[in-house]
Amino acid sequence: MLADALLFAATRLSSPHTRAAAIRDAIGLRSRARRCRDAWAGHEARTRAAIDRAIDGVDVRRTAVVLGSGLLRDVPIERLSSMFKKVVLVDVCHLPTTRLTVLLRRYPNVAFMTRDISGYDRLAEQSRIKLATGQDDLGVRLDPLGFLRKIDELDLVISANVLSQIAVGAEARLQAKDGQARIMPDDAVAELVAGHLDGLAQLPCKTVIVTDVSYIRRRQDGIIVESHDLLAGVTPPFASDVWDWTVAPFGEEAPDEERIHRVIAAEDVAVDL
Ligand SMILES: C[S@@+](CC[C@H](N)C(=O)[O-])C[C@H]1O[C@@H](n2cnc3c(N)ncnc32)[C@H](O)[C@@H]1O
Repeated sequence: MLADALLFAATRLSSPHTRAAAIRDAIGLRSRARRCRDAWAGHEARTRAAIDRAIDGVDVRRTAVVLGSGLLRDVPIERLSSMFKKVVLVDVCHLPTTRLTVLLRRYPNVAFMTRDISGYDRLAEQSRIKLATGQDDLGVRLDPLGFLRKIDELDLVISANVLSQIAVGAEARLQAKDGQARIMPDDAVAELVAGHLDGLAQLPCKTVIVTDVSYIRRRQDGIIVESHDLLAGVTPPFASDVWDWTVAPFGEEAPDEERIHRVIAAEDVAVDL
């Protein structure tokens, strides 16, 4: 607990603009990843393998961007750093422990970019304008990954287990008591999920996404007590690999229940028009 409190304070100091909730989530993820190390190992290895295949598919390797780089558990950072001229790690929260790892392992070509890639604030702004003007269609895309166009020599963009978290984060913000939910469209979460996939599809470089798309909660007797779509009804891209990830093994959330997520990997993300 004390270690978590210190880490929270250190993160606040190193990233003063990061939302407290995002810092708490990142610290929570770090603790859970440690507790569930064995249950998560297969998923992390398959994520790294999917990214490795994408790296192999890139001929000219100048800049690679990792969206949702988090704790760098499922990102082959060593290989990315050695094979690309520059690697940009993008996340809503970078813990100082991750920054320190990068420093100590001497990856001089790895840079951190702290930003919310969900498009939530932009969607809220667009919703406000629509309400104020009475216009249904502003004729502008959400474009949550538009910032990538400013990055030079982009050859690979990796979406690393972040898409479902964009949806989860948006749902949490919609439930917050700041009144924004009133102005947001009913399908806000689906818009944000679709915006991420659309953003990847628009990029003029190689893309790869790994994301969980749904989960089930299962009792020890095999009975499924809940199933949930993590992409708010949006069709995932065509998968090149599919696997299960036991996010919460028995005892993590409930003694008699486990939570298993279905994960996909997809290269060269395209969306149906
Ligand atoms: C399941 S973790 C991904 C694990 C990570 N790839 C790793 O190797 O440790 C999801 C990550 O997405 C980040 N994230 C969640 N919502 C985000 C958002 N709106 N914008 C940017 N990053 C976000 C979280 O901070 C977290 O690091």
